[in-house]
Amino acid sequence: MQNTIKKVVVLGGGTAGWLSAALLQKIIGPSISIELVESEDIGIVGVGEATIPPIRHVNQVLGIPEHEFLKQTKATAKLAIRFEGWLREGESYYHTFGAPGKSMAFCHFHHFWQRARSLGHNSDLWSYDLNYLAAEAGKFAPINSKDSIIELPFAYHFDAALYARYLRSISEQLGVTRTEGIVEQVQTHEDGSIQSLQLKDGKVIEGDFFIDCSGFRALLIQQKLGVGYDDWSHLLPCDSAIAVPSERHEKTAPFTRSIARPAGWQWRIPLQHRNGNGHVFCSRYMSEDEATHTLMSNLDTQPIGEPRTVKFTTGRRRKQWHKNVVAVGLSSGFLEPLESTSIHLIQSAITRLAQYFPHDGVKSAAVAEYNQQSETEYLQIRDFLILHYIANERKGMRFWDDIRELQVPSSLTHKMALFEQTGKLDREGNDLFLESSWLQVLLGQGVEPKDYHPIANGMSKEQLIQMLESIQKVKQEPIAKLPTHDDYINGMCAR
Ligand code: FDA
Repeated sequence: MQNTIKKVVVLGGGTAGWLSAALLQKIIGPSISIELVESEDIGIVGVGEATIPPIRHVNQVLGIPEHEFLKQTKATAKLAIRFEGWLREGESYYHTFGAPGKSMAFCHFHHFWQRARSLGHNSDLWSYDLNYLAAEAGKFAPINSKDSIIELPFAYHFDAALYARYLRSISEQLGVTRTEGIVEQVQTHEDGSIQSLQLKDGKVIEGDFFIDCSGFRALLIQQKLGVGYDDWSHLLPCDSAIAVPSERHEKTAPFTRSIARPAGWQWRIPLQHRNGNGHVFCSRYMSEDEATHTLMSNLDTQPIGEPRTVKFTTGRRRKQWHKNVVAVGLSSGFLEPLESTSIHLIQSAITRLAQYFPHDGVKSAAVAEYNQQSETEYLQIRDFLILHYIANERKGMRFWDDIRELQVPSSLTHKMALFEQTGKLDREGNDLFLESSWLQVLLGQGVEPKDYHPIANGMSKEQLIQMLESIQKVKQEPIAKLPTHDDYINGMCAR
């Protein structure tokens, strides 16, 4: 095997395949050529439709203008996820991309809010969060303010099939070539690294480096290289999803809905032309028929397609990079769609690969570093997802009763205990979820801090309440000036 990496082969043309091809070609440039192999007969999973804010960096890197993106992918804005019934039936809370209050020296805003509560001044934490206020009002437009107190971070909901098609056109403009066909055999070098892929029609595709984006099949990283899988279904037990599109809602909400159900949860993702709906559930507690019935009887608009089932095992590949193969997308692992993290994991995997790109051959230290960073990223997201499930008061439902008794990883119990005892939330390394995310989900799931930082005692009660009220006012002011979410989307798409 030659050392220099000149030819990269991407196996798979779903979101992972085309996003990898586009980003890598753009970042590394013409010193590599990329060939992507996909099979229309196999198709794509096609359900990843909600994202988180770093997706906007992808558009920046690829030079995609906002209005073009919205038009091509029928996208809408996403300011938050509304979790309905997750703590108790009939109650809901938001996990927004914003942050309540404002940044304070030495300790977070919520310590001041907590002190006010201890003094009997009860206010809703989310009333200090512009993302929440805009989401509730159905308003949206990007805000470019120099003042960090009035930021409105957002992501998108989009049509997964249109997104893959759009990424394909961008990749091809960048010089990526596409080959249609089913890979039937994989040839290896003497050292076990991949040499070439052989298609059903006999064509052989050689490469120096391979990106496995073959979805749950994990054709190269698992079927050929057998790296193994850390199965996390004892921690995240949902293993099935039923998805169905329905007519668009009269008004498109700028947030995802996540609604707790007896053995899992239901998503509702509003797009310009339809709603994406799905029911994630654990097959040990509910049959597929029951799950389908639950979904179909809880749609808020008419279905416009047949429900289809996707099975999965939560967990991660033990090595994301092995020999001359990197797994990206579903082939590298899956952590269920609760916080819309999968497409982000594709983005961060390719960014990492670009950083450690083996231009002069695969180096063991780079592989070890890449795998270590990937593992940490997966573990941090895993803990955040588990939190949503375990801290529930949905008593009398077998799935929820059992999940409350789960043996929680010590990394998560520590984080929860620290918050309960001191109100403190320390961001661990590069944890994707900032303190404000942990705060919202902890409080939303009923985990209350018993203390706050003494810095919050540095002002009188009157000063404290005055400060809180002035922040609330500043946060509310922009709402009146924002257009409705639909007006914004329509205006951008008319450009
Ligand atoms: P995908 O399965 O889409 O593509 C695999 C590709 O490999 C296809 O092109 C196929 O043809 C090709 N292929 C396979 N075998 C082959 C062979 N032998 N020869 C040739 N080609 C072959 N993510 C997110 O960020 N937000 C979300 O809201 C959701 N929601 C969601 C819900 C559910 C139920 C699931 C299961 C997943 C999500 N996801 C998500 C995850 C998201 O769907 C996923 O990360 C992306 O679609 C990427 O999928 P892949 O491209 O990895 O596989």
